[in-house]
Amino acid sequence: MEKRPPPRAVLFDAYGTLFDVYSVALEAGQLFPGRGDALAQLWRDKQIEYTRLVSMSGPQHYRPFWEITREALLFSAEKLGLMLSPEAELRLLNAYRHLSVFPENHGVLQALKARGIPTGILSNGDPEMLAVTVKGAGLGGLLDHVLSVHPTRRYKTDPAAYQVGVDALGGPARELLFVSSNGWDAIGATWFGFTTLWVNRSGAPLERLGTAPHHTGSTLRDVLTLFP
Ligand code: LAC
Repeated sequence: MEKRPPPRAVLFDAYGTLFDVYSVALEAGQLFPGRGDALAQLWRDKQIEYTRLVSMSGPQHYRPFWEITREALLFSAEKLGLMLSPEAELRLLNAYRHLSVFPENHGVLQALKARGIPTGILSNGDPEMLAVTVKGAGLGGLLDHVLSVHPTRRYKTDPAAYQVGVDALGGPARELLFVSSNGWDAIGATWFGFTTLWVNRSGAPLERLGTAPHHTGSTLRDVLTLFP
């Protein structure tokens, strides 16, 4: 692999990387005993599938990630045969606004701040939902940027979505470290030109697309190994 300059700044994916999207399984399990994990899993898969569907079909089909998240929930509940009352829908969407953060995040962001490394989120999430979740998680003061793909009306892995990070932090992309726990996002970001770290939290296999992220780790702490 070609030699890359040390990164100048770090951009994090939000959902799955900083925030545990499967933490909604707890609320889901209270509403639907024994089905919490299945609902959380299908909800996430559908949400991502819908981002791709609308993004590939042209900007007129774009709708904010919050709407997609709700639509994916409605589909998933129906598919699993779960009766989603308006109250249950509200409770689950509220849980999604207040996702758990992975325990090492605060320490890692604090360490990057102490080293003077600029940090940000670059997410499919729309600005409103990101703001609520970042604030609720107490990450506000630890991030220099909270960037959303929203103004582009495109979702990752469209290059226009990743370009938002370069526009905010300056190029070239290879000097920015993009960190994601989503294997597909780490590959898309590598294709775009970022230097990438895949935080493979679940021990998933590498996507078989002929490209590997520049670095692979298992927790967010692995970011710090790239800033010795
Ligand atoms: C995000 C989703 C894709 O935060 O995890 O962009």
